[in-house]
Parts: sequence; structure tokens; C-alpha cells
Amino acid sequence: MRRKLAAGNWKMNGTSASLAEVEALNTAHPTAGVDILICPPATLLSRLSGVAGPAIATGGQDCHAAAAGAHTGDISADMLLDAGASHVILGHSERRADHGETDGTVHVKTVAALNAGLVPVVCVGETEVERDDGKTLQVIGTQLAGSLPDFAGIDRLVVAYEPVWAIGTGRVPTLGQIAEVHDFIRATLAERFGAAAEGMRLLYGGSVKPSNAAEIFAVSNVDGALVGGASLKASDFSGIIAALEQAA
Ligand code: 13P
Repeated sequence: MRRKLAAGNWKMNGTSASLAEVEALNTAHPTAGVDILICPPATLLSRLSGVAGPAIATGGQDCHAAAAGAHTGDISADMLLDAGASHVILGHSERRADHGETDGTVHVKTVAALNAGLVPVVCVGETEVERDDGKTLQVIGTQLAGSLPDFAGIDRLVVAYEPVWAIGTGRVPTLGQIAEVHDFIRATLAERFGAAAEGMRLLYGGSVKPSNAAEIFAVSNVDGALVGGASLKASDFSGIIAALEQAA
């Protein structure tokens, strides 16, 4: 059985005052029937890792492929680990768009994260134009093939399906569309990684809220969510965690 995962991506949001949200989550979820992950901006990672209770893991939002060196502004996987992280989001569509990250970039970063002992949360997803052109599964197949490495212990890797057009828009695919993509991802992973694919968790991301979480979590091959806006407030994120616990 795959343990469910509720992951929050704070993106470029949060300052010291936001640590209070984590303290509120600690109180609401001293223990949890699901895994809880918060990925704050790098500036908060160390402090947030110190404040987070036993049920809450922390992660980075990106890492460099190299272990150290002359890469101004970048952060290595080992540095994330040192700051208390256990996970790292890689290949988010915002990084692919804002920083020109390709499947090849994501691939080498994923290797670095796995080598460091982090759990990579690798993001894939189609744009609205690609969906309208009927290319959704083709695009996701290409992203998976290029972004994921062959690596012993790959079963700890998490894949997040985030349709670009659903991120921050309040628009969500139909449950049938989510099922189609998640079933396709599971089958694609099984073809390549064999039995290890059964252990890999698949998250849905894009406008997940407490009000729509339960129906999304009932979809086949949805093992949790990667949540942006609704992870910033403990009360919202807590509702999503509760819905996931119900589904577990
Ligand atoms: P929203 O939940 O704000 O749509 O963001 C989703 C996302 O991009 C998480 O990585």
C-alpha cells in the first residue's frame, strides 16, 4: 500500500510570520494517517524544519544538479538535506517556464536529489494548448521519459501531475481527465520500472481546495495532492489533509 501524501508548495510566498501556520498545523495534526510535506521558500527551510512537528516533513522547491561550486544563487541537494529537508520539488512548470528547465535539466537534478537521499517530487503536466490539441498523454509520456532517471531505489520518487492551465486558476480537470492521466502515468512507470512503479506515489496538483479535495482523492491512482495557494493557510491545508485521511 502506498502511503498518501499531502504536499504544500509555498512557491515564492512566506516570511517569518508564516511559521505560525506550521505551528497551527502541528496542533491540528500532532500525528497523521497520511504523510504531510511543506516546501517553503529556501529562506525559511531551516527554521521551518525546526518548528515542524513529527507528522510534518519539509522540502525544497528546486536544487542544483551539482554538489557544490560556483553557481551563484543556487542550492544543492546536500544543502537542502542539511537544512532539514527530506524532499525536493523538481521540474515544476513555473521553473520550466521561468528558468527554461528542460526534461534533461530535471533528469540531472533528480539524480542529484536521489544521490543525496532526498525524495524528489517530479512535476509533469500539459499546457491548455497541448490539451486542446489532443496531445496531453503524449506530452506527459515525453516528460516522464526525459525527466526520470534509471536509479536503484526509484520507488521512493513521487510524480506530481499538474496541468499548467489548472495551476492558480481555480479550474480543475474533470475527474475522468484526472483518472485518465494518472492511470496513464502508472502504466508508463510500470512499463519502464516494473514492480518499483507500484511504490511510486502520484499526486494531483492544480487548484486543489478543501471543497474539491475529497472527490479528487477518490480518483484511481491519486495518492495525494501537491497544493499551492491552499497550502499557505493552515486552516485550508488542514481541510485537505483531513480529506486525504478520509480517503486513506
Ligand atoms: P495551486 O494549488 O495554487 O493551483 O498551485 C498548484 C501548484 O502549482 C503546486 O505546485
